[in-house]
Formats: sequence, structure tokens, C-alpha cells
Amino acid sequence: MWCGVSAALWPVRCRSFLLQCRNICSGNVGRKSVVDGVLPSFRSVCGEDGVSLSEAIREQHGKDESVHKCCPPDVVVFPRSVDEVSALAKICHMHCLPIIPFGTGTGLEGGVGAMKGGVCFSLRNMDQVLDLHVEDFDVTVEPGVTRKALNSYLRDTGLWFPVDPGADASLCGMAATSASGTNAVRYGTMRENIMNLEVVLADGTIINTAGKGRRPRYDWPDETSQSRKENAGYNLTNLFVGSEGTLGIITKTTLRLYGIPEAVVSAVCSFPSVQAAVDSTVQILQSGVPIARIEFLDDVMIDACNRFSSLSYPVTPTLFLEFHGSERSLEEQVNTSEEITQCNGGSDFQWAKDEETRSRLWKARHDAWYAALALRPGCKAYATDVCVPLSMLPQIIVETKEDLIANKLTGPIAGHVGDGNFHCLMVLDPNDPDELQRVHLFTERLARRALAMSGTCTGEHGVGLGKRALLVEEMGAQAIQVMQSLKETLDPKNLMNPGKVLQ
Ligand SMILES: Cc1cc2nc3c(=O)[nH]c(=O)nc-3n(C[C@H](O)[C@H](O)[C@H](O)COP(=O)(O)OP(=O)(O)OC[C@H]3O[C@@H](n4cnc5c(N)ncnc54)[C@H](O)[C@@H]3O)c2cc1C
Ligand SMILES: *[C@@H]1O[C@H](CO)[C@@H](O)[C@H](O)[C@H]1NC(C)=O
Ligand SMILES: *[C@@H]1O[C@H](CO)[C@@H](O)[C@H](O)[C@H]1NC(C)=O
Repeated sequence: MWCGVSAALWPVRCRSFLLQCRNICSGNVGRKSVVDGVLPSFRSVCGEDGVSLSEAIREQHGKDESVHKCCPPDVVVFPRSVDEVSALAKICHMHCLPIIPFGTGTGLEGGVGAMKGGVCFSLRNMDQVLDLHVEDFDVTVEPGVTRKALNSYLRDTGLWFPVDPGADASLCGMAATSASGTNAVRYGTMRENIMNLEVVLADGTIINTAGKGRRPRYDWPDETSQSRKENAGYNLTNLFVGSEGTLGIITKTTLRLYGIPEAVVSAVCSFPSVQAAVDSTVQILQSGVPIARIEFLDDVMIDACNRFSSLSYPVTPTLFLEFHGSERSLEEQVNTSEEITQCNGGSDFQWAKDEETRSRLWKARHDAWYAALALRPGCKAYATDVCVPLSMLPQIIVETKEDLIANKLTGPIAGHVGDGNFHCLMVLDPNDPDELQRVHLFTERLARRALAMSGTCTGEHGVGLGKRALLVEEMGAQAIQVMQSLKETLDPKNLMNPGKVLQ
């Protein structure tokens, strides 16, 4: 180990070594032969089956669900334990090979592309649910466990993990992208629900961000309490949440669980205008209703969902709502919400009380992405992902719809409006350069509109490849510099998912 301290303290000699190493690392020349050379070491760590050079496997690991083009790694490894991850990372570190963690590949920002080649760590073989503490409402999972797998594991315990990005993503991938989704308005995003992470750093060091085995919480997780007793030093857990594979490989996450609500009802409500739907959302939240989900779909989106999922809702701005709680508290929540929506000219609630109608409703919402794609067969979709303070939401959605119409773009809007977060699902023909350019300019205008309203360019999908320049605009040069020094401290050779998040 050389210079295991902060960048500012590195002796000059050491920094020049670092520079040399960076240069070697950034060159493609010779990388392939380095990879060939290390294959026997990889195989001795995770077995013959645990190392793949097949073109199909590499292609599959070089892209996610976004429009970014496939960038396959040189080799894919399938470690079975944290010790194997650490041993593989040490080999990569010694030979300056890039490391790209891979969860389930459902990301939307090109996060898994191997921009500089290197080694993809597919974590799907580490798929155990560990340390379930029903009485403490927490569980620890390995990176191959997806959210649906965890919830079916928990089925008989009366507990569930609510963070729900629609796709059946890996929970550690969700930690890495700081995912959220339809339930966040009530239960928080990944960020609020992670208690500890086990991370393997670029040089193979294994750390536990809150200390090994710690899962501190002394309160009872009732409907309102979010507090937890811990205050030990810098919050490393938070640093790794949303780091998108650029700081380390997450090999375990300890998650907060919730009691399955006694009763659940869903409703659909149609509105005369975008403004009326969004005003209702804002007022429902302001009135303190602990609503679990409140999703906005504009007229274009509801039309697409009607067609794709054989539904027949009116083609106007619409809210999908869901309430969780005891029978009594539900009645109150629903009363208040219905009163508010009616004051804003909303229709009567259409109920989905039984499990089957409810899951049909939410499946339609979760299939919005595919419903949008079906509007123009053969096209690709790109989801914008801005988020603004709630009070700005009506204005930004109205302006954005005007912009879409003026520029003749297909971009149905679906949003987790309870968080100030909405997506334009841009459906575009990737072979039409003129349309690509119009979409590009549109998304930049949208992001700048959000920044001007004190918002962010990414509410949940992350920075990945495409939003690195916007991140600089959002953060400012000084904050980016601090991020860069953190990156250099944790990953001085720039091996962890290079070319993502920071430029
Ligand atoms: C139809 C659809 C709807 C979606 N809706 C939402 C939504 O509403 N909200 C939302 O937040 N997201 C949404 N997403 C995006 C996606 O589901 C999330 O980004 C998810 O968190 C990615 O998890 P993954 O395991 O698939 O990660 P991957 O795609 O495999 O990787 C994503 C990034 O995380 C890194 N990474 C993955 N695993 C690890 C690990 N163990 N350690 C370190 N780094 C790692 C990768 O290197 C990459 O940079 C949607 C996706 C689809 C396809
Ligand atoms: C540290 O960060 C994690 C993840 O974001 C969060 O769950 C936890 O509450 C934070 N701890 C403190 C003391 O703020
Ligand atoms: C809800 O509204 C109905 C009808 O207006 C009323 O009878 C009922 O008492 C209300 N319930 C609560 C909990 O406010």
C-alpha cells in the first residue's frame, strides 16, 4: 500500500506515480493482453464457470435499459462471495483494470457501459437474504437479491420493503443509484431506508459503512417516526448511496422494513387540467394525508396506458392514488383527499379496492414505459428525470408540455408528483438525427428549467453518462472539486466505473 491518506497529503513522488498509473489505465493499448494474462488468476478465484469471455455475455453486460449504446467489457466475472469480490478487485487493482459493478441492468442512464473496457463484476450469484430481524424491522441482503425476491421471501413475516422503482432491480443496484419510485412519498427513497452497506473498494479493501454488523435503531417504526439513533462520524453510508459504482462495489445492504399495512385502497381521479391535478397533489400533501402513492399521468400517457393495458380511463390529466393504513385512518385519508380533488374539479374517485383490480391498476402504471414505446413501434425511449420543489411543479409541467407541443415531440408525462419528480418518456427514432437533436435540446432546456427553479437534473435515475455536464451546472465548480477529491482518495487509480458521474 502506498499513500493510504488523503490526496492533499500525498508526497509529490507519489502523485507522479499516480499520474503515470492513470495514463497506463486510460490507454487501451495492451489492455486486452493484460486481461488475457489475468484470466487464470480470475479462474482460480471464482472457478471456470465464474469467468466469461463470450461475446453474447459481454454485450448483455455492456448496456442497460437506456438509449446509450452498448459498451461491452473485456470480460465478465461472477463472484460468489465478498471474499471473491475482494480477491478479484485486488487483481484488477494490481493490473490497472477498470471494474464495473453490474446488478440487473435496469438502469436508465447508461451506468453499466464499460467506457474503458475492463472487468464487469456481475453480482447475480450472490443472492442470499441474510440476517432477517423481524422484531427489529431490518434485513441484510446480498447484491443478487432483487426487490421482488426480497418481498416474496418476506411474505409470511408481515413485513415488506416498499421502495419500488417499477423494474425488478437488485437492491444493491438500487442503493448504488439511490433509486426511489411510486412509494417514496410515504416511505422514503433508498437513501432513507439503508442502515449499513458492505463495500469492496477498488484495491480490494472491505469496509462496512456504519461498522460491521451494526443496524442501530431504537425506535418503533410506526407510521410517522423516521428517527434513528446514530451519530458516529461522517456518514459513509450516505456517501456510497447514489455513487453509481464509481466508489466501490456494494456487496451487502442492510435495509429498513415496514409492517404490511392493515388495509390498502387505490383510486383513480381525472382532472380538467394539469394545473388542477398538480394543485390537488400539493394540497393533499399539505393537508398532512400520509398518502402512499400519488402518480400523475398526462392525457398522452393515460391514452397510451389505456391502449397498452386495455383500460378505459378518460383521456385527461389523471392521478393514481393509493392509501395505506388502518381501516379508520383510511376513511379519513380518503375523505380529505376526495374533498380536495373535487374542489379542484376532479371526477369522483374510481375505486380499486380488491387486490386484483389494484394490481391491474399499478401494473398499468408500471408498464407506462412500454405503453409509451408502443405509441411508436420500433422507436426507443429516453426518460427525463428532473425534480423541483413541490410548489414549482404545476408551472414546470405546464411549460414542459407547451415545449413538447411546440417542438413536435412525443413525450408522455408520468410522474411521482408527490416528490416533485416527473418523467417525460421521450419516444424517439434513433435513426432520425434531426429528431435526436430536437430531443437533446429539449432535455437540456427541461433540466435548466428545473435548475432555475431550485431543482435537480436527476430525481432518481442518477447521473451516469449523459448528465455529467449538467451535474457541474447543478453543483458548481467547488462542490464538484470536493467530489473529485473524494473519488481520488477512495479510488486513486480511477478504476471504479470510469467515465461515469464525474467527467
Ligand atoms: C421500466 C423502468 C422503470 C423504472 N422506473 C424507475 C423509477 O421509478 N425510479 C427509479 O429510481 N428508477 C427507475 N428505473 C431505473 C432502475 O430500475 C434503477 O436505476 C435501479 O436502481 C437500477 O438497479 P440495477 O440493479 O438494475 O442496476 P444496474 O442497471 O445493473 O446498474 C446501475 C448502476 O449502479 C451500479 N451498480 C449496480 N450494482 C452495484 C453494486 N452492487 N455496487 C456498486 N454499484 C452497483 C452500476 O455500475 C451502474 O452504474 C426504472 C427502470 C425501468 C427499466
Ligand atoms: C446516514 O445515511 C444513511 C443513508 O442515507 C441514512 O439512512 C442514515 O439515517 C444516515 N445517518 C445519520 C445519522 O444521518
Ligand atoms: C367521511 O365522509 C363521510 C361522508 O361524507 C362521513 O359520513 C364520514 O363520517 C367521514 N369519515 C371520516 C373518518 O371523516
